[in-house]
Amino acid sequence: MEQQQKKKSILSGIQPTGVFTLGNYIGAVKNWAPMQDEFDCAYMIADLHAITVRQDPKVFKQQILSCYALLLSCGIDPEKSIVFIQSQNKNHAQLSWVLSCYTQFGELSRMTQFKDKSAKHADNVNAGLFTYPSLMAADILLYQADLVPVGADQTQHLELTRNIANRFNGIYGNVFKIPEGYVPKAGAKIMSLADPTKKMSKSDENPNACILILDEKDQIIKKFKRAVTDSEMEVCYREGKDGINNLMTIYGAVTGKSMDEITAEFAGKGYGDFKVAVGEAVADHLRPVREEYARLMADKAYLESCYRKGAELSERISRRTLEKVMKKVGFIL
Ligand code: TRP
Repeated sequence: MEQQQKKKSILSGIQPTGVFTLGNYIGAVKNWAPMQDEFDCAYMIADLHAITVRQDPKVFKQQILSCYALLLSCGIDPEKSIVFIQSQNKNHAQLSWVLSCYTQFGELSRMTQFKDKSAKHADNVNAGLFTYPSLMAADILLYQADLVPVGADQTQHLELTRNIANRFNGIYGNVFKIPEGYVPKAGAKIMSLADPTKKMSKSDENPNACILILDEKDQIIKKFKRAVTDSEMEVCYREGKDGINNLMTIYGAVTGKSMDEITAEFAGKGYGDFKVAVGEAVADHLRPVREEYARLMADKAYLESCYRKGAELSERISRRTLEKVMKKVGFIL
C-alpha cells in the first residue's frame, strides 16, 4: 500500500517595519506563496521582535496590519497556511523566556546582528535586542518546523536555534525537532539601485536606491532609469558589472527569463532601453499585488477574521510543544 507522506513544515517570519522592498519581495516573500503547495507553512508577522528598536505606537499598529495585508497580497493564502501575528500568540513570549535560560551570554554576545544593531542604536542597547535570538528560537521550535527560509543575515540565528534545541534535547530527551535552513531555488539577493555593491534597503538615504512594492508604475520606471550601471554597453551577466547583474537578476525574477534569454533580448540595444524594460516588467508584475493590497486594506473585517483565525490555529499547534517543555522542566501544569 502506498504510504502517505507527511508534508514537511515551514515557519518563517518578517518584521513589520514598513512596506516590503523589491529586495524583501524577490528574496523572500515572493517564494513563500509557491511553497504553500509543497509544505505545511506558517508565516508570522514578527512584531515582538520589532520593539527591540523604538516604535511609534500609532505607526507601529498600522504597520502590523499593513504588513499582514501585504503577505496576503503576495499570494499567501490564509486557507492553506497559518498566517498570524506573533504577539497574538502568548506561547512565543513564554517559550522564549524558558529558552533564554538555556542560551549562554557568550553565545548571544557573538551574534553579529546584535553587534551591528547595538552600534547603530547605541542609546538603546536593551535586553530584548540581546535576547532576540532566544525569541526567534522559540518561534521556530514551537512549531517543530523542519525548514526555515531565512536570508543570509539570519543564518547565525538559525544556527543558534539548532544549538539551543540540541542542548535542550540533550538534557530532557527528544523535545524539539532540529530545523534546517531552506534556500528557495529563486531566492536572489537584490542590491541597491544607487550602489549595486550594497543590499537594497528601505532605510537608504537615497530614495532612488530602493523600490517599494507599493510604488506606482511611473515611480518605478523613474527609479530604474536612474539606476547606476557601468560605462560599457552590453547587457550581459559578468563579474564587475554589479549594476547590470542586479537589473538582470530583477528582470529574470519577475519575467522568469534566464540570463541568456535576457542577453539575447537586449543584444544591440542600449542600457536606456533595458532599464525601461526592467521598470515596466517590475511595475506590471507588482500591479496585482498593489491592487490586492488596496482591496484588503479597505476590508478590515476580513483582515481581522484572518488574523484571529491565524492566532487561534498557531496557539493550538504551538501549545503542544510548550506544554511538553513545561512538563520536562518541572513546572506544574
Ligand atoms: N529575525 C527575522 C528577521 O529579522 C524575523 C524572524 C523572527 C524570523 N522570527 C523568525 C524568521 C522565525 C524566521 C523564523 O528577518
